Amino acid sequence: LAIKLLIFGNRGQLATCIKRHSLASRFDIVALGRQEFDLTSRGDLKEVISSIQPELVINTAAFTDVEGAEEARWNCLDVNSQAARHIGELCQQIKIPHIYFSSDYVFNGNKGSPYVETDRPNPINLYGFSKLMGEDAVRETGGVVLRTAWLFSSHENSFTNRILQAAQKHPLLKIVADQVGNPTCADSLAQITLEMSERILSGEDFASLYHVAGNEAATWAELAREAIASAAEAEPSLTLASVQEIDSAQWNYKAPRPHDSRLDTALLKDRFPNVDLSWRASVRRSAQDRSFIGLA
Ligand SMILES: NC(=O)c1ccc[n+]([C@@H]2O[C@H](COP(=O)([O-])OP(=O)(O)OC[C@H]3O[C@@H](n4cnc5c(N)ncnc54)[C@H](OP(=O)(O)O)[C@@H]3O)[C@@H](O)[C@H]2O)c1
Repeated sequence: LAIKLLIFGNRGQLATCIKRHSLASRFDIVALGRQEFDLTSRGDLKEVISSIQPELVINTAAFTDVEGAEEARWNCLDVNSQAARHIGELCQQIKIPHIYFSSDYVFNGNKGSPYVETDRPNPINLYGFSKLMGEDAVRETGGVVLRTAWLFSSHENSFTNRILQAAQKHPLLKIVADQVGNPTCADSLAQITLEMSERILSGEDFASLYHVAGNEAATWAELAREAIASAAEAEPSLTLASVQEIDSAQWNYKAPRPHDSRLDTALLKDRFPNVDLSWRASVRRSAQDRSFIGLA
C-alpha cells in the first residue's frame, strides 16, 4: 500500500527533488505550493491537512532569500517560524510525524571546526534567526529537523544553475571565496528524507535534529569552479566563464554571512551508514543533465 505524504513547498528546489525520487517508490504524494495554499494567509490549514489525511508531512516551504529577509522580516518569520509552528501543532494534534529543514545559517561561523548538533546556535542574520525559531517550534511539537546547507540541483533557484546560466553569458564571474560550508546535493537530501519518512512510519525513532550536508567543505568559488568544470566536460562546445575569487566585503551584503558554517554529519552517518554525500561526485553526475547546465 502506498504511503501518503503531504509536502509543502511544491515548486521549490527540494520539493521538486523529493517528488522526482518518490516516483520510483511506494509514496503517494500531495504537494502544495503558495498557489494552492499560502502559509502566510489565515486560511484553514487544519481543514487542508484533514482533507488530505497524510501519514507524514514534509515541510520544505520557506522564505529562502537571505538578502530579502533583512527587509521582508515579518514575511520571513511568518513562513519560516510561525507556519512551521502551526504545521507542527496540527501534526501533533492528529498524531502524525513531520519533517522540517533548517540551515547552517543558524550558526555565527566562529567555531573554527564543523558544528555538531549539540552546538549552541547563534544566528547573525534574520534568515538564520527565523530558521532557528522554526527549529525550536518543530522540536517542541515532536517533529524532526534536518539541518542542511548550500543546496544545489538542476532547479532554477539553485546556486549552481544560476552560476552555469551566468557562465554562458559573461567571460568572468566574481565569486566569494572567504565563506566555507558544505555544498549539499538536494537529490541526496531528498533520498534521505524519503528513507527517513519510511523508517519513521515503520516505528523508528529519529529524535530530533540531524545535520545533512555534503562531505568535504568548500567555498562558493570552489563550488562554482567545480560546476563550471563539470559542465565544460559534459558539453565541450560551451564557452564558459572563469572564476575570480573575491572577499565577502566586496559583495556588499545586506545580511552578514557566517564565514565558516561547516556541519558535522557523524550522527546522520551513524543512522544511514550507506549514505552518499560526496558533493563533487554529485556535481559531476548532475552535469550530464542538460537542465543542470541550464540548457534545457
Ligand atoms: N537552498 C539552500 O541552499 C538551503 C540551505 C539550507 C537550508 N535550506 C532549507 O531547505 C528547505 C528547502 O529549500 P529550497 O532550496 O527547496 O527552497 P526554495 O527553492 O526557495 O523553495 C521554497 C518553496 O517554499 C514555498 N513557499 C514560500 N513561501 C510560501 C508561502 N508563503 N506559502 C506557501 N509556500 C511557500 C514555495 O513553493 P511554491 O514555489 O510551490 O509556491 C517555494 O518554492 C528550506 O527550509 C530552506 O530554508 C535551503
